[in-house]
Amino acid sequence: MRIMFIGDVVGSPGREMLATYIPKLKSKFKPTVTIVNGENSASGKGITEKIYKQILDLGVQAVTLGNHTWDQRELIEVIDHCPNLVRPANFPEGVPGSGFIIIKVNQLEIGIINIQGRTFLPPLDCPFKKADELIAKIKKRTPIIFVDFHAEATSEKQAMGWYLDGKVTAVIGTHTHVQTADHRILPGKTAYMTDVGMTGPYDGILGMERSAVLNKFLTSLPVRFEVAQGREQLNGVIIDVDPKTGAAKSIFPIMINEDHPFFD
Ligand SMILES: [Fe+2]
Ligand SMILES: [Fe+2]
Repeated sequence: MRIMFIGDVVGSPGREMLATYIPKLKSKFKPTVTIVNGENSASGKGITEKIYKQILDLGVQAVTLGNHTWDQRELIEVIDHCPNLVRPANFPEGVPGSGFIIIKVNQLEIGIINIQGRTFLPPLDCPFKKADELIAKIKKRTPIIFVDFHAEATSEKQAMGWYLDGKVTAVIGTHTHVQTADHRILPGKTAYMTDVGMTGPYDGILGMERSAVLNKFLTSLPVRFEVAQGREQLNGVIIDVDPKTGAAKSIFPIMINEDHPFFD
């Protein structure tokens, strides 16, 4: 079986890239399941129910989130009606939504966990202990477990990779929006990558319009960030999995932009 995961979709440029390339990527790579991180898909800030449904309509089976989960406040009311939307599992007990789901594709069950780091991000419950708790639950159903670890610090992401090595199929980082070149299979057969990258503007700063971000650095004044326009990119990763054991067999990155064109 094969998992395709696409990194943080930023605004309408990111959604356009999904609509253009998901069909092409599906026909080229034939993934069993496609997962998208959608935490920036609504104008760079959060997600709406409508956008969540549009992403699923492209043939995506699950949408993960991150620190921007609640930026569109309507989501607090509707997230419990979005069964394939996964928000960080270590948010405080009792908040709406779920931190993991189990989906079924071609008779295979796949567990999907979203969890958030707490280094240079708001304080949350321990992501390591929360991961253990969810893995124990999911393992009763399936050995195939994909973890989107939404975190800022490379050290915390590497730590999670090693902590979960041999326990899950993949630990793939999101949030920093720049694809790292460290995709690998750890010794316990867990696929790992520090950050999958982002999907949306290619010439912004982490997807946002450059002049506002530069102004912030140059003046320290409060500024309003808008999604950048112009050239676009898509970043993702493909993981091949032994469906019987959940072990990862191989991992390779997807990078589509004007410097790395896509070939059918
Ligand atoms: Fe993001
Ligand atoms: Fe984030």
